[in-house]
Amino acid sequence: AIEKTFVMIKPDGVQRGLIGEIVGRFEKKGLKLVAAKLLAVDSKTAEAHYAEHKERPFFGELVSFITSSPVFAMVWEGENAVSVVRSMMGKTNPVDSAPGTIRGDFGLSIGMNIIHGSDSVENANREIGLWFAENTLTYSKSGD
Ligand code: CMP
Repeated sequence: AIEKTFVMIKPDGVQRGLIGEIVGRFEKKGLKLVAAKLLAVDSKTAEAHYAEHKERPFFGELVSFITSSPVFAMVWEGENAVSVVRSMMGKTNPVDSAPGTIRGDFGLSIGMNIIHGSDSVENANREIGLWFAENTLTYSKSGD
């Protein structure tokens, strides 16, 4: 099915100048960019975004990292976009992220791991709603 997924280049990826590289990979794959913005994240948005990790020992560290400097938030659309983006990102743990993936090629840290991508269609819809107002999504409305 045609899906939309939420993708965010984290502060480390922005600071290292990886926006163009990462956007280029998704474009060349054939996914369609339907929304994008560079923004400083407030802690309320960061905590809502990572709500499912609230009880984890690294939650505080995660929120302070994401709010530390600007992120580049995007929505990508395409056939099976959620799982396609996840496989192109590579695994969270740098030991397991294969060469050829974004984290496999550029990442060495489990926390500062360059990029976030929604892990399910349900979470994609929730995250898109959290990060983007309805009228900032171009091309098509969700579900079209
Ligand atoms: P992300 O895919 O954005 O979703 C949850 C995040 O938690 C994950 O990326 C990592 O950045 C972070 N994370 C997971 N495990 C750890 C850990 N052991 N220490 C710090 N951060 C972690």
